[in-house]
Amino acid sequence: MATDTPPGSAPDEDAVRAALATVNDPEIHRPITDLGMVKSVEIAADGSVAVGVYLTVAGCPMRETITNSVTDAVAAVDGVTGVSVELDVMSDEQRKELAGALRGGKAEREVPFARPGSLTRVYAVASGKGGVGKSSVTVNIAAAMAADGLKVGVVDADIYGHSVPRMLGAEGRPTQVEDMIMPPSANGVKVISIGMFTPGNAPVVWRGPMLHRALQQFLADVFWGDLDVLLLDLPPGTGDIAISVAQLVPNAEILVVTTPQQAAAEVAERAGSIAVQTHQKIVGVVENMSGLPCPHCDEMVDVFGTGGGERVAEGLTRTTGAQVPVLGAIPIDVRLREGGDEGRPVVLTDPESPAGSALRTIAGKLGGRQRGLSGMSLGITPRNKF
Ligand SMILES: Nc1ncnc2c1ncn2[C@@H]1O[C@H](COP(=O)(O)OP(=O)(O)O)[C@@H](O)[C@H]1O
Ligand SMILES: [Mg+2]
Repeated sequence: MATDTPPGSAPDEDAVRAALATVNDPEIHRPITDLGMVKSVEIAADGSVAVGVYLTVAGCPMRETITNSVTDAVAAVDGVTGVSVELDVMSDEQRKELAGALRGGKAEREVPFARPGSLTRVYAVASGKGGVGKSSVTVNIAAAMAADGLKVGVVDADIYGHSVPRMLGAEGRPTQVEDMIMPPSANGVKVISIGMFTPGNAPVVWRGPMLHRALQQFLADVFWGDLDVLLLDLPPGTGDIAISVAQLVPNAEILVVTTPQQAAAEVAERAGSIAVQTHQKIVGVVENMSGLPCPHCDEMVDVFGTGGGERVAEGLTRTTGAQVPVLGAIPIDVRLREGGDEGRPVVLTDPESPAGSALRTIAGKLGGRQRGLSGMSLGITPRNKF
């Protein structure tokens, strides 16, 4: 104990703060004074000290530990007759600042595709049900766009049902350079999938926040370079990932995949209509498994019925108030399925097949669209000529 304070006099604020500097946050293991956690120090004439402490999050499990350590540290200061600790919770802003300080001042890794000036078109491929061909459509339009000379990336965001690397024939593992992840590429398409980070065929059992983190890493920590188009293969339905996509890349446009079947169309429409809540644009509807060309005659066998694509497009046009077109219909084709199994997209191996050419047409529509320069500020000010 210091001896330079005369007995009975009020404690010195510097001494109290010095005592607080000896208290570490039990989780971050750094002094609470360095973490911006000390909100206030009030010293009353009778020697009682009130300390305000910010917790990083509400319901912090360490609240008791922090309260006790602060009380003990301050009580040991000369002249302190009593200590009270009042807990508060950091604002988002303070938390961000703290996170920045912890990263050594480096800004939070941003999602490059969400930057206002980004020229990359982002398409989130969604469906109501699984098994309608969402991943098949994703890899084929990606491969077709790459064959057309576009720089294309695919994020396999179907964390539980990841299948994109196999369908695309991307067997490589991502490599890490400093803190960037280098995505493997196949058939001219860069691809990242959770499947590349799990051993063997181990199932992924993650909850919402983990999924969000994984997606954020795929978007922000993967070195995509300058892409023309990024495709996100979403899990079926309207779950956490769809919401995370809307938060992380608000400018992503939704591409809805359905089969011609009534039941599939209804759930596809529901999946698409989440765009209304997230204020995202629906770029169009793709109808897959639209009939099976009879191998023995010229007839088309409507295995899954007809009209699903039109129905979804009309429904989504009604709910969103914006015109949602049907971008194409892809027939059932054994070559498409085989191509998926072998990692050789049908658009490349058999581009003139009915499925291959339907997929290439859709890719052309999506890849050929303006990259968003129109109506965008170029950040230059015209000079007055006169
Ligand atoms: N047009 C099609 N013709 C033949 N098989 C298809 C077609 N579309 C998808 N498939 C096959 O159907 C299965 C499910 O497709 P997939 O793309 O994995 O669907 P999702 O990603 O929606 O779950 C795969 O085996 C795929 O090869
Ligand atoms: Mg899939």
